[in-house]
Amino acid sequence: MCGIFGIVTNREQGLGPVLTDAARRLSYRGYDSVGCATFHADHSVDLRKDKGKVDEVASRLGFAEMTGTRGITQLRWATFGTPSTINAQPHFDSDGDLVGAHNGNVVNNVELRLQFAAEGMTVRSENDGESCVHAVERWFDRGFDMVESIRRAYGDLQGDYAFVIGHVGEDKLYAIKKGSGLVVGLTDDTTCVSSDLPSILPLTRRILRIHDGEIAILSPGSVELVRVADGEAIQRDPEEIVETMEAAQKGGYPHFMLKEIHEQPQVARELLHLLDASVDVAGYVEKMRKARHLYLVACGTSYHACMLGAVYLARLAGRAAVPVLAPQFIAQYGPALGPEDVGVFVSQSGETKDVLNALNVARERGVEVLSLVNVIGSTLMVTADRCLPLACGYEISVPATKTFLNQVVAFLYLAMRMGGHPTAMLYDLPRLIEATLQQVEPQIPALEQALLPWHDTYCLGYGATYPIALEGALKLKEVTYIHCEGMLSTEFKHGPLSAVSDAYPVIFVAGPENVPLIVSGINEVSCRGGRTIIIGEEDPRLRANGHDLLVLPKSGPLFSPILGILPLQLLAYRVSVAKGFDPDFPRNLSKTLTVD
Ligand code: M6R
Repeated sequence: MCGIFGIVTNREQGLGPVLTDAARRLSYRGYDSVGCATFHADHSVDLRKDKGKVDEVASRLGFAEMTGTRGITQLRWATFGTPSTINAQPHFDSDGDLVGAHNGNVVNNVELRLQFAAEGMTVRSENDGESCVHAVERWFDRGFDMVESIRRAYGDLQGDYAFVIGHVGEDKLYAIKKGSGLVVGLTDDTTCVSSDLPSILPLTRRILRIHDGEIAILSPGSVELVRVADGEAIQRDPEEIVETMEAAQKGGYPHFMLKEIHEQPQVARELLHLLDASVDVAGYVEKMRKARHLYLVACGTSYHACMLGAVYLARLAGRAAVPVLAPQFIAQYGPALGPEDVGVFVSQSGETKDVLNALNVARERGVEVLSLVNVIGSTLMVTADRCLPLACGYEISVPATKTFLNQVVAFLYLAMRMGGHPTAMLYDLPRLIEATLQQVEPQIPALEQALLPWHDTYCLGYGATYPIALEGALKLKEVTYIHCEGMLSTEFKHGPLSAVSDAYPVIFVAGPENVPLIVSGINEVSCRGGRTIIIGEEDPRLRANGHDLLVLPKSGPLFSPILGILPLQLLAYRVSVAKGFDPDFPRNLSKTLTVD
């Protein structure tokens, strides 16, 4: 994911090392390009940028020697335009008077670039960060000052972003926030701004948080805030940050797992923007469509996403796809594989040995290798014939949460594209995810008590909620050390029902289309004294028969299974913490499994 950092000082000085350090601190987000711009007192600008890693590009382009009174650095993670020197940020405006960089997605970038070119501006790249600069240039060149030009640009730029921009003839930088993070840091003679608090903390602990729809005007040692809506000044005092660097990286949450659970609305929104803007999706979908056999290959959580992906592909595109655990792929289907087949290999890390082993054999048999991967530059990403990124940023907690969500969102999106359905309705999903988290989180503590005394339990689903039940069970096992078995709800009566005794907890994930079947399963448990915990939309049948009902917002059969994973993630997290475990780093487990 992109990151930005800007700094304003009161005298010409060596800013290159400061900007390079800030870029290193932003690099945990994942990126493919890096750039620095410094503004000199004589109104010249030094702009150096390229694709590559911070240390390599910094040493090749000599960032260390860059001096100035103001500076901007940006890490780019490609959405609009391939990773390249020209698409790297920061960007100049047409005549080199404005320099800026952004973080986020400008969703009307393609339309804007055409407009800017038609208006006579020099558009050099495909990148939406450049559109932010031209959007300001458009008004600045008509005689408006910087603040007014940025206010007007805000109306032109659609999407979620933050950007920082400066004019050669001034001693200020300007930053604006809309949907993406933005924080200002202050010392007596320096002011900096960044997409990330942790990138500022080594410089100062006096910070000011910028809200959506606000412009920050940065001068050395001071900042003014202006509201975009009416141009009025805003008064807000800086705060002193006392938390450690690690706590700051956790963004105020006690654990990365909880932070990452709460990042899900945002990462889903960003992924949808990315896929809508991607020129790679059409070819990717075409390969899936033309496949003789379509396999969805992964391990663990990523495999559960493949299972739900197969449900979506059948439902929305009429396409049968085979979800398969990676180590079983060759063992089971190896003899049947051929060049007409396509494998979609799915992985958070892109380094899971089981997945790469399967990929290598499949490739030998001529299978077209597609991938969905989170970690940029990973082996799976670079070796696949085609790759779509999951766009979650780093997932630090060992239990996968936000990457599972985006794997499922990616499959849903691909299935809709393959089936010829408009994808606009998917933008409702991030809002529903947010609403679900708010709605269910207060109800989790009561359920935590139901699970705590037990060493084992079950999590049951049916149809589209079956993969969710498996994933919920995996989350519970992984971080609580309670044995939780995920199962098709109808299978429970074929044996496991014997486990039920007084107050024995069984979790059901009910899809809105399968309520009667789920109710049968609930009654089989409750009439034997078991405690049934139901996750589903409000329904009198579920309420009347279940013991506890965790209510999901009404969203229908496509979205409801996705929302169903959220209470299970929260429940696993809470039980883990209540038992005194560290959910971020469960015993015996590793985030990336590079062994057989
Ligand atoms: O990086 P991958 O998605 O390939 O990893 C696969 C599994 O190891 C992983 O999903 C694992 O099951 C998770 N830690 C579960 O939360």
